[in-house]
Amino acid sequence: MALSVLALGGDGIGPEVMEAALQVLDVAAGSLHLPIDVSEDLLHGAAWEHYGTFIRDETLERARQTDALLVGATGGPQWDHIVIEGGAEDQDGLMKLRHELDVFACVRKARAWECLLDRTPFRPEVVSGSDLVVMRELCGGAMFTPTRGTESLEGGSKRAFDLNEYTSDEIARFARVGFEVARRRQGKVVSVDKSNVFVAGKLWREVVEEIGRSEFPDVSLEHLFTDNASYQLCCRPKDFDVILADNLFGDLLSDQSAAIAGSLGMLPSACLHGLPENGRTDAPAIYEPVHGSAPDIAGQGIANPIGMILSMAMMLEYSAGESACAHKIETAVGSALASGCLPRDLGGNATTAEVTDAVIREFRSL
Ligand code: NAI
Ligand code: MG
Repeated sequence: MALSVLALGGDGIGPEVMEAALQVLDVAAGSLHLPIDVSEDLLHGAAWEHYGTFIRDETLERARQTDALLVGATGGPQWDHIVIEGGAEDQDGLMKLRHELDVFACVRKARAWECLLDRTPFRPEVVSGSDLVVMRELCGGAMFTPTRGTESLEGGSKRAFDLNEYTSDEIARFARVGFEVARRRQGKVVSVDKSNVFVAGKLWREVVEEIGRSEFPDVSLEHLFTDNASYQLCCRPKDFDVILADNLFGDLLSDQSAAIAGSLGMLPSACLHGLPENGRTDAPAIYEPVHGSAPDIAGQGIANPIGMILSMAMMLEYSAGESACAHKIETAVGSALASGCLPRDLGGNATTAEVTDAVIREFRSL
């Protein structure tokens, strides 16, 4: 059976990095055990310009039927003023996809690359060997709450609110995936919350503690307040294995962890409805780089395509059960970087196309 892939380039540098990932996929396809069937569509701003909607019903229907989605990035200042009737998810094509596919478990990988240590803001001995995952809850919390709005107050002031809410079921299903990810790595979870201030944080800590104790006694669990976790991530990134975080804190900590890799352009993610039981996920999953649409560099052909290429590799691992090929792509990326082919964000001057060609060349030589 083929792996069906829906590729949505999106906006800004999204289509540029998508083209790079599809080129690598095309070459990698030769060494896979199953055929890959790729189709493309428009998302968010690109869809707005063509169809007057951030995501067509037809695209959503195709997304539900497909095995995996590759998404570049969405958004840009030209669409920020558009307000669509509905919830938070209706304001953004990608948020809508995450919501509809219920991909609540987002796995964001950050690692140090030996050849890039001096491109990071860290001393080499502090960052060398760092290899961690930020697990971000992706379908709940303040970002998706229906309890949001703006209202006028007496005296001309305004009140705006987005309720930071979680149910114990939402926390539990997410925590289980996080612990399972840790079990397949070094078996160390750090769960972050602000339970010293937020009651939603108290529930978060209670539920994570209970799941860890009763279902994953083999995985070590530590709780940190998020502000301290952010600080510790700067001071001793090597000590982290898996960080469990809610939607908002996970968004922040995953961008922060990109400093370990040398650039935000390096980080991939997998947004899953759950971990595969028998090698392949059976629900559609979204694979996207952690970065946004970077309007400041869009259209210049200089975006770093590695976050998108590694996201495609995560797709091969989780949605195709092709871990060996995924690993080969990561090795090829490492060799391309070590050869000195660095894009602008890593201090070099290679274009997106040159970095992509270098990865393909290294992949072929493995
Ligand atoms: P951003 O991640 O797009 O950019 C932050 C900084 O990192 C910029 O200086 C940018 O040039 C650089 N950067 C990001 N990716 C890069 C890459 N692959 N190669 C080289 N440099 C890269 O975040 P920003 O500027 O806050 O947001 C820009 C737009 O993207 C906004 O409309 C925002 O809503 C949207 N956004 C979309 C996301 C998504 O689609 N998943 C995630 C984050 C932001
Ligand atoms: Mg982010």
